Amino acid sequence: MRIDVFTIFPEYFSVLDISLVGKAREKGLIDVHTHDLRDFAHDRHRTVDDTPYGGGAGMVMKAQPWAEALSSVLPEGADEMPHAKRPLLLVPSPAGQVFKQATAQEWSSRQHLIFACGRYEGIDERVLEWAAERADVVPFSLGDYVLNGGEVASLAIIEAVGRLIPGMVGNPASLVEESHSDGLLEYPVYTKPSTWEGLEVPAVLLSGDHGKVDRQRRDWQLERTSQRRPDLIEALEVSGLDKKDKAT
Ligand code: ADE
Repeated sequence: MRIDVFTIFPEYFSVLDISLVGKAREKGLIDVHTHDLRDFAHDRHRTVDDTPYGGGAGMVMKAQPWAEALSSVLPEGADEMPHAKRPLLLVPSPAGQVFKQATAQEWSSRQHLIFACGRYEGIDERVLEWAAERADVVPFSLGDYVLNGGEVASLAIIEAVGRLIPGMVGNPASLVEESHSDGLLEYPVYTKPSTWEGLEVPAVLLSGDHGKVDRQRRDWQLERTSQRRPDLIEALEVSGLDKKDKAT
């Protein structure tokens, strides 16, 4: 997968050299390129923003540097490309659709992700219209709160999507059992010692009875999800529940 990131703060992305994403880059699974948006502004002050038409607080990012920046990585003829090859332009914004695990799964099969990190009040809307002729454009939000810019949101997406690329995670089974993969939160986990500070590991986990352990873990998932995220329980398809779940 190729990833291009456009930002006025390229330093934010130095963390991509470490951890899992760093390893994936070494293995050649992910090819990340970070670009300074100001390199595409041509005045003495390398200006990328201006005042908003219609008035209002703050500044808006100008269309010209963005169009030049994106043109430097967008291929010709993207409109005729097969879905997986067509670049996906991701625009972090509190006004975007909320990013979920299912979205991460979907985006992990794409070959080219481009992140357009806005600052200030956002990017001139015409950039998104212009780009839609050349890529699939998706404004996305990390959640219902406001960050200062798209950099932290893009880093979160790169990690969430990057770890789903085949060959990234040592044990793919760990991806199947984690929170959100089945619409529920993950069950609680424990490791040695079995008694710590007077607190015991639940006896069922020491019983060696795999059937019982699986049932208990599923019950913990349902219990934890009902308590912490009742919205996820509401959204569960009845077909995804077994008979014992329904009794819980
Ligand atoms: N930029 C500012 N706030 C954001 C959010 N919540 N999600 C994604 N990008 C953002």
